[in-house]
Amino acid sequence: MTDTLSTIKARTSANNFDTTHVMTAAEIEELVSYAQHAPTAFNLQNWRVVAFSSKAQKEALKAAAYGQQKVADAAVTFVVAGIKDGYKEIGRLAKPLLDAGAIDQAAYDGWVGMTVGSHENNPQLQHDEAFRSASLVSMTLMLAAQAKGYVSGPMSGFVPDQVSAVAGLGANEVPVMLIAVGRAADGNWPRKPRRALAEQVKIV
Ligand SMILES: Cc1cc2nc3c(=O)[nH]c(=O)nc-3n(C[C@H](O)[C@H](O)[C@H](O)COP(=O)(O)O)c2cc1C
Repeated sequence: MTDTLSTIKARTSANNFDTTHVMTAAEIEELVSYAQHAPTAFNLQNWRVVAFSSKAQKEALKAAAYGQQKVADAAVTFVVAGIKDGYKEIGRLAKPLLDAGAIDQAAYDGWVGMTVGSHENNPQLQHDEAFRSASLVSMTLMLAAQAKGYVSGPMSGFVPDQVSAVAGLGANEVPVMLIAVGRAADGNWPRKPRRALAEQVKIV
């Protein structure tokens, strides 16, 4: 376990993975449990992952990702999906806070009303929030993997319809990112350069 800032700085996108390394279901689930702490708009939690860990399943996913070898070489490759109609579940998701007395009925009703009202006739927002949530989850998953001593490789190089089919995603689910996770093999690139800070920050 390393501290947060060291983990952020140590993470790079890996291409080469130890093909002999296997992750248990418990290890995979632990990584996802950290990703669950990622924030989502209205706490929609409008995402889920499908973890590809068997050789045959990873090969099928690789074919949907332009043959990117790391999909098959990593111990696990996650399909991180955003859920466009996740807003429909806000009543259930918010209820524990109401039941615990942490919020009152008016706050609960306002939360649910605002969530449904903003999303139900707005497919653009449904899509955008699905992508935002899945992206934040993806980053959290990669940092958790790094902190646990693994390396990761994010990918958007895939055919969405093919990934959806292989991962069994529903009509309201959109594949946002593939993330290969496992132990590093030799030959990964060093940290790639970044722009000068001044190009990317303006303090107003
Ligand atoms: C949204 C996204 C999509 C990416 N897609 C791919 C990909 O399909 N294949 C690949 O090898 N790397 C992919 N990468 C990795 C980037 O090339 C990498 O993050 C970038 O070069 C910076 O390197 P670093 O992550 O090591 O700092 C992707 C990264 C992101 C964030």
